[in-house]
Amino acid sequence: MNFIMPDISTTTPTNLALEQSPTNGIERTVEHTLEPVVEPESTKISLSVGASYTKPMWYFAMPSNKLKRGKMVSKTILEEPLLIGRDENGVIFALRDVCPHQGIPLTKGNYNGKEIECCFHGWRFNNEGTCTAIPSLLEDQEFNVCSIKTKNYICVEDQGCIWIYFGDKTANLADISAYIPRAPGLKENNFSKTITTLRIPTHIDYAVLALIDTSHVPYVHKSWWWRSSRNMKRKEKKYVPSGNGWTMVRHHPSKHSHIFKLIGDLIETEISFRLPGCRIEHITVGGKTLLSGITTLTAVDELTTELNHTTYWTIPWIAPFIRPIINYFVHTFLSQDLEIATAQAPILAKRPNLILTIKDSGTPGAWYFKLKQVWMEAHAQNRPFKNPIKESILRWWT
Ligand code: FES
Ligand SMILES: [Fe+2]
Repeated sequence: MNFIMPDISTTTPTNLALEQSPTNGIERTVEHTLEPVVEPESTKISLSVGASYTKPMWYFAMPSNKLKRGKMVSKTILEEPLLIGRDENGVIFALRDVCPHQGIPLTKGNYNGKEIECCFHGWRFNNEGTCTAIPSLLEDQEFNVCSIKTKNYICVEDQGCIWIYFGDKTANLADISAYIPRAPGLKENNFSKTITTLRIPTHIDYAVLALIDTSHVPYVHKSWWWRSSRNMKRKEKKYVPSGNGWTMVRHHPSKHSHIFKLIGDLIETEISFRLPGCRIEHITVGGKTLLSGITTLTAVDELTTELNHTTYWTIPWIAPFIRPIINYFVHTFLSQDLEIATAQAPILAKRPNLILTIKDSGTPGAWYFKLKQVWMEAHAQNRPFKNPIKESILRWWT
């Protein structure tokens, strides 16, 4: 499916007027022209939605504590079968989960913390994916065993999570690690966390659109303790480019959710987006971190995306109280989103034409596709990435 990319270098005021909704009597502002933002022919950029993955890029793989020493797990990311392991010394590694001999997953075999033994003919591989032994060979049957390899991937552990790099294996780790999405406001290893994982039945492009979409909130997230769609408010937020994404600058949270009505004046929040599909929220009280959260989207295949939401806090004694509360809120919110995504899935699988770039609430969606395009072009042409987003004020009703 293709769509037209708006010019994202500036934001133009939308044509707004107060209207009375004929159905429910709620006063709200609506746009007169609900059309995709379309630029003159000469500046059109056509981009395929739901047909590619952002690369080179770090993708969230799994929480660190789910991978014990001497164990390996199987995961598919970007349609690649992966073996993710942790050796006897605690060091993680990631390999293509395919035996180069006759193609069985290596994770079907055994791992002793040093070598993986394939379950089919017993070939052994080290943590770098190099073959170390072919048991069927006799002493006089010469064979260059170490010339046989399965692909290995750069991977790191950061803030209690494992990330895998899909890109050039010879890349300088110091350079590329700057682009690992991070939760802000945490001191090294001085935090507690809770992670919720779920699978969304759509391509990552559509999952990103939902992740950064602000106008669905009053319609989808209608729990009694949160808010209702009858309580719409006009929002105006400042966005600045940052990293390979953007940041909605620090502000007091909206008071139309019941929780923030009570404590909204005390706290501030900053929300950022990073490629390939990460939403980062940093909540502070008096400038100090209260909660820091990161929602990551990892493409599994064309029709499946894994979402992991990690919430961090730095005050250890609140763990027994805050963990169940956070888990309840996150589970409730994500279940509401998943219900929508599941209803969309059979339709999105056919890649229909959609209106994705309504202004201003749809502008972050357009930014995402532009960032993805500029990022991939910069790497394909071996030149530095230059963030195409310009500082903007976006306005919408929510
Ligand atoms: S398929 Fe793995 S050793 Fe033969
Ligand atoms: Fe949502």
